[in-house]
Amino acid sequence: MLSRQSFFRHILANPESRELLFNSLAVGEADSAVDLDRVAAHVEDGALSRKIYRHFAEETKHARLFRKHLEGMGFSVRPLPPELDYETLVRGHAMGTPRSRLDDPRPFDTEDLVTFFCGSKAGEERACAAMADLIDSLAEDPGTVALLREIYDDEIRHVSYATEELARIAAAGHRSLVVRRLRAARRAEARANRTVSRAFMRRLMEIIGAPRIVRLFAGVAIDVGFALRFLFPGGLDRPLVADAMHTPERPKHLTARPAAATRELS
Ligand SMILES: [Fe+2]
Ligand SMILES: [Fe+2]
Repeated sequence: MLSRQSFFRHILANPESRELLFNSLAVGEADSAVDLDRVAAHVEDGALSRKIYRHFAEETKHARLFRKHLEGMGFSVRPLPPELDYETLVRGHAMGTPRSRLDDPRPFDTEDLVTFFCGSKAGEERACAAMADLIDSLAEDPGTVALLREIYDDEIRHVSYATEELARIAAAGHRSLVVRRLRAARRAEARANRTVSRAFMRRLMEIIGAPRIVRLFAGVAIDVGFALRFLFPGGLDRPLVADAMHTPERPKHLTARPAAATRELS
């Protein structure tokens, strides 16, 4: 039976599985930045809009870091097959802000903000858990672990600011709306994650030729994780980091635009 660390040792030792793992991470981070700039443009509160632009810039930075890491191994970023396309799947399960709402130029109201931040929080919670798992599993690859730790710290702040905004909205008299949407978002995320995790594991196991019993246990572990998240989606917790996306107003002549925000972190 393969331990988690020896399973990942096999993945890193095989160029095909190594490429699959790091390409998936690079594409996943690039996808998580998509539309955040458009969301920020819909938010009238200047301080909140700047936080969302900063989030956009940091996800873009994550994508760039993973792309460089992948290229350093002699590979380049490639589109993912549909069964590994997490972003399309979560949208299909109605998590986050629909594209149709972003095409509508009206500023976001409270409902729109709740939908956005619940989707964001559910996705960022998953990102934190995935980074923590990878840091543990890839302990024998210090270069990758250093990169993962940097990104993990950002993901913790992303969960924290989403939680903080949801807590603010809940305290203003919308607690039941926030909790209802948050549970729905976590359930939608769990469904998408299960589909992608199963497809991803199947591919990795095929590449490294894992025994049938290992494939079986990996599938059961994914299903158990899904069932726990789906049946017990939890409520609104507390932010792990206070004021996690502190983004002071810039002087007028340096007013941030999406492109400028990206450049700052490049
Ligand atoms: Fe990220
Ligand atoms: Fe993030």
